[in-house]
Amino acid sequence: MFSLDKILRENVKNLKPYSSARNEYTGKEAVFLDANENPYDSSYNRYPDPLQVEVKKRISEIKKIEPDKIFLGNGSDETIDLLIRAFCEPRIDNIVSVEPSYGMYKVLADINNVKFNTVLLAGDFQLNADDILKATDNNTKLIFLCSPNNPTAVCFRTQDIVTILNNFDGIVAVDEAYIDFSSKGSLLSILDNYRNLVILQTFSKAWGLAGIRLGMGYADSEIINVLNSIKYPYNISSLTLETAVKQLSDSKSKKIWINRILKSRDKLARKLNDLPFVIKVYPSDANFLLVKVDSAKKIYDYLVDKKIIVRDRSNIILCEGCLRITVGTEDENTILLDALKEYEKILLK
Ligand SMILES: Cc1ncc(COP(=O)(O)O)c(C=O)c1O
Repeated sequence: MFSLDKILRENVKNLKPYSSARNEYTGKEAVFLDANENPYDSSYNRYPDPLQVEVKKRISEIKKIEPDKIFLGNGSDETIDLLIRAFCEPRIDNIVSVEPSYGMYKVLADINNVKFNTVLLAGDFQLNADDILKATDNNTKLIFLCSPNNPTAVCFRTQDIVTILNNFDGIVAVDEAYIDFSSKGSLLSILDNYRNLVILQTFSKAWGLAGIRLGMGYADSEIINVLNSIKYPYNISSLTLETAVKQLSDSKSKKIWINRILKSRDKLARKLNDLPFVIKVYPSDANFLLVKVDSAKKIYDYLVDKKIIVRDRSNIILCEGCLRITVGTEDENTILLDALKEYEKILLK
């Protein structure tokens, strides 16, 4: 049985969180003499809302999730870090994830001095729920699953994630950074059934706002309260909040972008497949393609020379010989394909 009390670090359990006067008084109209701000209006002389009520209200309406089940972080990366800091005792507890996957889980585990254990995915990039559960022990507090996974671009089977949720007493964090590009549904639809489920989404991909650094964490309000108690008081800037509110009111752009990217992804995959040095273009549920090629490093260097930057993933287990290519605009994809056709000619010389 999942018990938040059982897995929370002792120091976090006993923490008296920082509380600003803005936590205590949430009205907008007042004479604010509490936070030692400059009183003269520069548009940004006031601290931002520590609990980001307005943005959460908009997200709550769009996602049909209660605002108290939403956490906002400085990108998903902050939420990943806070989950580790809330639940994992350095040098004692551990995290389980899969390999290959998003590199920041291990980096943040290492920074927090928390052991990070991985289970290798199968050849089709799917996970085996029993293997993941077997890799856990009494000190495993967190399981990170990235779906659609980066860099493999595919979603895990919902049934496998549900098996893990049902048989693990710690927290299962499902990172859905790329879910808007997938034909498979978000696990948000089952959020209410699992007190140990955390879902991470971000404004960095389909929303087109990587520059503002804003990530959403969805979970039971008990977990959200913990994250709010340990975050920096003003972790999301006023500039970010304003931009998010604006974009959240514009549902059209996101839909248009996603449709375009999906069309371009399929076209790019077909054209890449036609190139003789492309061994395989893997199926994608994301806005990038994993492409197995002859001499990945050589092609990568050739593209860099042409100022076309893709990601060399050839040193990563199960991705040997692979490049990860983000789907760009039609123009950018054409520049890439033209360069690769030129590379083909050089090869034939
Ligand atoms: C799987 C995954 N999660 C999270 C992130 C980072 O998200 P954010 O920009 O919200 O920190 C990335 C960025 O590439 C990612 O691939």
